Amino acid sequence: MIKKYVFGKPFPTQATIKEIEACTDKLPYFETNGEGVFTLPLRENDIVYGLGEQVRGINKKGWHYVSWNYDNPNHQEDTRSLYGSHNFLLISGKAKFGVFFDYAGKTEFDIGYTHRNLLTVKAAKNDLAVYIITGNSEKEIVKQFRELIGKSYVPPLWAFGYGQSRWGYRSEQDIREVAAKCKAAGIPLDSIYLDIDYMERYKDFTVDKERFPHLKALTAEMKEQGIHLVPIIDAGVKIEDGYEVYEEGVKNNYFCKNEQGGDFVGAVWPGRVHFPDFLNPMARKWFGGKYAVLTELGIDGFWNDMNEPAIFYTEDRLAETCDKIGKLDLNSMGIYEYFGFTGMVAGLNGNEGDYYKFYHNVDGKKVNHAEVHNLYGMNMTRAAFEALQEISPDKRTLFFSRASYIGAHRYGGIWQGDNKSWWSHLLQAMQQLPALNMAGFLFVGSDTGGFGADATEDIMLRWLQYAVFTPLFRNHSADGTRRQEPYVFDNCAACAEMIKIRYCLIPYIYSEFLKAVHNDEMMFKPLAFDFADDDMAKRVEDQLLVGNELMIAPVYQQNAVGRYVYLPEEMMLVRMKSYDSTSTEILPKGHHYIDVALDELVFFIRKDKAIPFARPAENTEKADMDALTMLGYSDSVYTLYSDDGISPDTENALAVKEIK
Ligand code: GLC
Repeated sequence: MIKKYVFGKPFPTQATIKEIEACTDKLPYFETNGEGVFTLPLRENDIVYGLGEQVRGINKKGWHYVSWNYDNPNHQEDTRSLYGSHNFLLISGKAKFGVFFDYAGKTEFDIGYTHRNLLTVKAAKNDLAVYIITGNSEKEIVKQFRELIGKSYVPPLWAFGYGQSRWGYRSEQDIREVAAKCKAAGIPLDSIYLDIDYMERYKDFTVDKERFPHLKALTAEMKEQGIHLVPIIDAGVKIEDGYEVYEEGVKNNYFCKNEQGGDFVGAVWPGRVHFPDFLNPMARKWFGGKYAVLTELGIDGFWNDMNEPAIFYTEDRLAETCDKIGKLDLNSMGIYEYFGFTGMVAGLNGNEGDYYKFYHNVDGKKVNHAEVHNLYGMNMTRAAFEALQEISPDKRTLFFSRASYIGAHRYGGIWQGDNKSWWSHLLQAMQQLPALNMAGFLFVGSDTGGFGADATEDIMLRWLQYAVFTPLFRNHSADGTRRQEPYVFDNCAACAEMIKIRYCLIPYIYSEFLKAVHNDEMMFKPLAFDFADDDMAKRVEDQLLVGNELMIAPVYQQNAVGRYVYLPEEMMLVRMKSYDSTSTEILPKGHHYIDVALDELVFFIRKDKAIPFARPAENTEKADMDALTMLGYSDSVYTLYSDDGISPDTENALAVKEIK
């Protein structure tokens, strides 16, 4: 059952799709002070799931999180905000319920941080809707919540193939080289990503004429090889006379305004930019229409970036800072003045105060950005999604975004933002998955191998062994870091085998993904969601159920030659070095230490279940999704969900059959 409670005058976030009459009775479970603060006593053994893309474990207890979409490529355990804000919690203890704080401004979640047994949620203003969802099990609660927020986005099937990306592919030649080297190394490939380097001076919807003189021909040439090019689109529009997007935006008042009514100025990759007012439907339609510039070149996938929005600095704060620096006296600079100076400079990037200094036009009303901050990225993706439905009505377009809010899952997927080639970030990526699924984000994945910092060949291989299970499977890295395409490493052959195995797994992954979409379920579940009576399962933070048949327990520590795994029931352990080198073994319920060689993929098939398995293929186009064998317990029946991988009407395209 879902009940809605309204406080003050909530902004219509569009997170939910069902109209629910607001209750007039008192909000259950929580106490509220009428000023946006809600408290709930927790018991020692209560588990608090949720919060989507956040730091720390699957059980969120013990930290203070802040929903405030924020660009933080250096996030660590003590970080409070990441790229997305997903204010859904699932409390699992004596009382079991879900709660969604539908509020688009800054929202704090103190989950047993100040007081170990107290949960305090604080919305910046008491203008929000709170939904309480009750049910008999975690899964039932999630299902109801997902029905409330609407069906998740389904990308084209090719988006489930391997994607190679790097910030720093600077020319058509670079792209051809990636394709050729993958081919030579036997690495299957479905997509190559174009980072900001393809644009002319980082201007959205432009293509650099010197470095990418024939993008249309290149796109066609790559398609011939089964490879889709996926360009990036950034939120900020470069301020430059003669640049059409800039000029149209200014003329039509499509940009966010400053206090004085002028176009607000921030700085991102292109330098000084204006931010499109994605909360204004007219601006959304206008910006969305621009994607046609690239679809006309044959492009059928996009990633939307910097849409928290990230602001490296604002003109005003930079001027103020320079002024203060100008007044510094070198001779009398003490250590505190020195730290004040460095702090001032570091504080320019993503300064929270800047987000209070611009405005949106919502139905003719001026709305301060900070009040709707977490909706910005979602509305950018919405702009693209809605426009593309008109531009390319006959097929699905790949979309994923960096920033998001609940509701954005209907328009696109997300990648989990900038991470590092750190072992802790490999674990973190996995721990976010169940919470993201609860919030509707099913087409998800992390930058495989890590974005920032230098990757080592072992982290690449271990990360691949995890990421072969995530719907979005993309190797992406930052300019200036060590190259990390699998072919640069000595262990390239082992990496290639992992990627080939991904293609064998696609029928299962795609099927479980579709099940999760159509049945409003989670694709990645904590063990306790399926083994509710097993107290040990509740403690497991580093294993996940993938769909209804598999359990994964990735290795996420350097130099580890294996790991402890808890089996909540008898399972079949599968070891694979390649498609042709597979061994299985039945293990009893309980604790096990499992050896996992560096070049070996290990996963588990649940008792009396089996998964469909395809032959490896060069890309999804060449994959024979019908020639399936079964891997797992003999005589098991698997319910396969599939479709043509392209029809926009996903409901009608769906085919369900039982296979043995
Ligand atoms: C941001 C994105 C990253 C991209 C970079 C350059 O950091 O998160 O993926 O490579 O910008 O565009």
